[in-house]
Amino acid sequence: MSVAFRSFLGRSGELSHLLQRRREASAGRGGLVLVSGDAGAGKSRLLAEFRGSLDSARLHVAVAQCSESPDRPYSAVLDAISLLSGAPPVIGPASSRIEQFAQIQRQIRTLARRRTLVMLIEDVHWAGSDTLALLETIASSARLMRLLVVVTQRTGEPEEDSPAFKTLVRLHRLPQTTHLILDRLSDPVTASSSTRPPMASGATRSERSCAFARAIRFSLKSCCGPRPCTGEATQ
Ligand SMILES: Nc1ncnc2c1ncn2[C@@H]1O[C@H](COP(=O)(O)OP(=O)(O)OP(=O)(O)O)[C@@H](O)[C@H]1O
Ligand SMILES: [Mg+2]
Repeated sequence: MSVAFRSFLGRSGELSHLLQRRREASAGRGGLVLVSGDAGAGKSRLLAEFRGSLDSARLHVAVAQCSESPDRPYSAVLDAISLLSGAPPVIGPASSRIEQFAQIQRQIRTLARRRTLVMLIEDVHWAGSDTLALLETIASSARLMRLLVVVTQRTGEPEEDSPAFKTLVRLHRLPQTTHLILDRLSDPVTASSSTRPPMASGATRSERSCAFARAIRFSLKSCCGPRPCTGEATQ
């Protein structure tokens, strides 16, 4: 049997964490969850299971994919907004990036007034720094909105010195960001009997932060200074 069709196993803590963040978003305390892990660790599968467990009659849910060679600025975010609103976002001529972000934010805010929004964005390690900067802006204001953004990121990417990487670190450090780091499952079937505690509930924020720093091959000193990350988890 193909691995793709195996039952979902070994990630109940991570799934509960996502569901909890969704409930918080519906209560007007939105934010972002960063899901990191090696290729094949199960990031997409976790997202698919989370999506499948959402009540799509009551929520607006959109899944968008970052591409290795993005064809236009902000593409994954604009794709998600198109899916949520049923039409491509209207972005008028803007004199600055700040103004463009404000236009996009207004559209998200309007949608979030009607229903809780859940934006699932795959493979942000491929997103350009423009898309990541927009995500940072969106996540920063999600704290008081009915919006949950969940993004996946492959361990070790993007390059440590890239602007995209630096934006990703800032995204990780926002107080309304929580971070799930998926260990590779040795085998999804044997994982069913694993006693390994889930990262979402079994580790403190600073332990997760340290693991993040390791996961993306970035020294803790450069990431967070001499102390661990100080952002507070919203769980
Ligand atoms: N918890 C799980 N239970 C059962 N099968 C799983 C689980 N997690 C992942 N798998 C299976 O393992 C394979 C790889 O998972 P997935 O595609 O989610 O990895 P990924 O982390 O998204 O990798 P990439 O970085 O390449 O996108 C898939 O066939 C998936 O169905
Ligand atoms: Mg994937």
